[in-house]
Amino acid sequence: MRFAALAIVFGYLFTGCAKQDDANSTRGKFVKSLLSKMTMEEKIGQMTLYTSGWDVTGPVLNENYRKDILAGRCGNIFNAHTVTYNRELQKFAMENTRLKIPLLFGYDVIHGYKTIFPVPLAESCSWDLALIEKSAQLAAKEAASAGLNWTFAPMVDISRDPRWGRVAEGAGEDPYLGSLIAASRTRGFQGASLDDPLTLAACVKHFAAYGAAEGGRDYGTVDMSERSLREVYLPTYHAAVNAGAATVMSSFNEVSGVPATGNRFLLTKILREEWGFKGMVVTDYTSINEMVKHGYAADEKQAGEQAVSAGVDMDMQGAVYQNFLIKSVKEGKIPESVIDQSVVRVLNLKYDLGLFEDPYRYLNNQREKENTLSEEMLAHSLEIGRKSIVLLKNEPFNGVKILPISPEVHKIALIGPLADNRVDMMGTWHAAGDETRVVTVLEGLRKALPQCQINFAAGCETSGENRSGLDEAIRLASGSDLVILALGENYVQSGEAASRSILGLPGVQQEMLEKLSACGKPVAVLLMAGRPLVIRWMANHVPAILNTSHLGTMAGEAIADVLTGKSNPSGKLTMSFPRDEGQIPVYYSMKNTGRPLDPANKYTSKYLDVPNEPLYPFGYGLSYTSFGYSELKLSSDHLSMKDSLLVSVQIKNIGQMAGEEIVQLYIRDLVGSVTRPVKELKGFQKLMLQPGESKEVKFILRADDLRFYTSNMTFAAEPGLFRVMAGTSSMQYLEAGFELK
Ligand code: GLC
Repeated sequence: MRFAALAIVFGYLFTGCAKQDDANSTRGKFVKSLLSKMTMEEKIGQMTLYTSGWDVTGPVLNENYRKDILAGRCGNIFNAHTVTYNRELQKFAMENTRLKIPLLFGYDVIHGYKTIFPVPLAESCSWDLALIEKSAQLAAKEAASAGLNWTFAPMVDISRDPRWGRVAEGAGEDPYLGSLIAASRTRGFQGASLDDPLTLAACVKHFAAYGAAEGGRDYGTVDMSERSLREVYLPTYHAAVNAGAATVMSSFNEVSGVPATGNRFLLTKILREEWGFKGMVVTDYTSINEMVKHGYAADEKQAGEQAVSAGVDMDMQGAVYQNFLIKSVKEGKIPESVIDQSVVRVLNLKYDLGLFEDPYRYLNNQREKENTLSEEMLAHSLEIGRKSIVLLKNEPFNGVKILPISPEVHKIALIGPLADNRVDMMGTWHAAGDETRVVTVLEGLRKALPQCQINFAAGCETSGENRSGLDEAIRLASGSDLVILALGENYVQSGEAASRSILGLPGVQQEMLEKLSACGKPVAVLLMAGRPLVIRWMANHVPAILNTSHLGTMAGEAIADVLTGKSNPSGKLTMSFPRDEGQIPVYYSMKNTGRPLDPANKYTSKYLDVPNEPLYPFGYGLSYTSFGYSELKLSSDHLSMKDSLLVSVQIKNIGQMAGEEIVQLYIRDLVGSVTRPVKELKGFQKLMLQPGESKEVKFILRADDLRFYTSNMTFAAEPGLFRVMAGTSSMQYLEAGFELK
C-alpha cells in the first residue's frame, strides 16, 4: 500500500483536494473494474447511508441493517463505533455480500470522540491555528482507533445570529478567520494521507450558508444576494475543499428558493466546476426527503432525481435513492452514467481510506486501548481549554481586582448549576464523550487551591423555576471571601434544533445572580454557554466575567488554572456579544450606510433604546496583564497592484504578568463599485510577551488581500483609498491610510 499512499499524497499535493479521478490510475482501474461487476441495486447501495441501531445496553445489530447490508442495499453506516461493534458489522458485510465492498463508518466527531475538546466556537476564540489543527488530529486519532474512518466535520457555517443554536459548532462571524480554521481542522482530521488508520475523512458542512437562517431559527429560510453568499458564507467551505476535504455535506436549508440538497448551482457549478472538488457529496439527515416539505419536489421520487442530478452522491438515512432511483433510471429520467459517477466517488473514498486493501484496517483493539482517553488526549484538552477562555471583565471590587484569585482568599463559595457538572461541560455534539472523565469546576478548583475552603451549592438549575436552592446559595455566599458563579446553558440548550429567541441566562439563574451579587461579596462569573448570551445586567454589576463556554473533558482544570493565574487568559471573541436580542444581527464588519450613527443628529442609523455597538465586539478579550500599542507604520502611503505593503506596529506588555496577545489587522476600502464593510479582518498574530517586553509585529498586505466581488461580480481589488487598523480588537486599534494605485 506504500505506493498507493505515496500516490495519495502526490494526489493531494497536486490537486489540493480529493485525488484526481484519473481513470488510468491504479485506483481508477480498480474502481472501474469493480463498477463493471455491480448490479444497479448494489450501485445504489453504495449511495445509501444508514444510522446503526444501538440499544441502551450496548450495540446490537438492528435486523433491518443485516438485510440491507446483505442485499448490498446499504454500503455505509454512521453512528456505529468501537472496534468490537464495527468489526462485527464489517465482518458481516465481508462474509455475506456478493462483492465484499467494505462498509464506510461515519460519526459526528465534531470536537472530540471520547476525550472532548472545547466546542468549536470556544476553541476558535484561541485563534491558535496549530492547536486547533491538533484538536482535529487527536480527535481523529482517537476516533479512528475506535473503528471510524469518516467524520461529519468540520462544521464551517458562518453565522452572525446567536439565536441559532448551532453557532456552537462553528468558528464565529468572520470568513477570514473562519476559513483559516476550516483549513486547519480539515488538515487535522485527514493528516497526510487518508489510508493512515489514525486519520478520518473530513466532511465539510453544511453546504451552504446554513448559518444564515432567517430569525436564527434552525433549518430556516436562507435568502441572500450571490455577492453576500460568495463573499461571506462560501469562503470557509472553499478553504476546507482547498485543504483537501474528502467529502462535503449538503445542508437542510434552501438558498434563495432552491434547497441546498437539490441545488445544482451550489453542488456542481460552484463546488465542482469552480472549485474543482473531486470528492463525494453526502446529504444531511433525510434532507432529500425534506425537499417535498420545502415545496420543491412533488414527491420523494422527484426529490431523489433532483438531488442526484444536482450532484448529491449519498443519501443519509432518507432511503430515497434506495426506494426510487432504479425506477428513475429505468424511466430514463436519470442516466446510468450519473449513478456510476456517484458510485465511483464513493468507491474512490473507500479506496483512499485503504478499506479495499484491508477492510479491518481501522479495527485494532490494542490501538483503541492505547489511544482512548490517553494522557496525550487529556493534556491537549487541558491546553486548548485554557486557551479558549476569554476574559470579558476584571474590574476591582473595593479597590482590589478579583482575578487571579488572591492568596488572601481562604473561603470560596462556588455556586451554580454548572459548577459541579460533568455532562454539560462537554457541550453540544459530544459524540461518545466519557462524562465520567470530565473534571468539574469544583474538582478543578479544590485541586488547584487545597488550602482553600471551597463550598459548593448548585443554587438552581439551568432551566425551570425551581428556587428551592437559592437560600442555601445566599447563605454560602454571605459567609465567603469570594463567590464564583458557574452559570449558562446546559448542553442541549445550544446545538441542533436549539434556537433561542431570548438570550439571557436560562431558568432562574439571573435572579440568583442578582441575589448573590447583593450579598456584598466579590463575585466572579464563569459564563458557560454554546453561544454569545445577552448579559447586560451582569456586565454592569459583576466585577469579573470569564467566558469559558463548554470546554470539554478537562474543563474544570482549565478553568481553575485561569482563575488562579497559573494560566493567563488570552482568548478573543470570534462572535460579537449583542447588548440585546433586538440588535441582532450585530457583527463587526457592518456597512456604513448613508446615515451612519451621529449622536448629534437624530436622523442617523441608531436605536432609541440601545447603542449600536455590541456589548463585547469581535476580537475582544482581556488579559491579567495589559498591552500597549504604538507606532503603527506603513512602508509607503501607496500600494501598486503588483507589490506589497509592510505594516508594522509596536506592542508592549505594560503589566506585571507574562501574557499572550492576539494582534489583529483590519482594512477598510473607503470607496468601491459596491459598498464595502467598515472593516475586514486581514491578518492576526498571537505572541507571548514578558512583563516590560515589547515587540514589533509586521504584516504584509497585497492587492490580492483587498479583493471583493465588484459591481460586475468579478473578484478583484479596485484602486482607491484604504484605511488600515492594527489593534487588540475590532473596536480598539491604531489607524493609518494608504492608496491602492
Ligand atoms: C444532523 C446534523 C448533521 C449531522 C448529521 C448526522 O441532523 O445536521 O450536522 O452530521 O445529522 O448525525
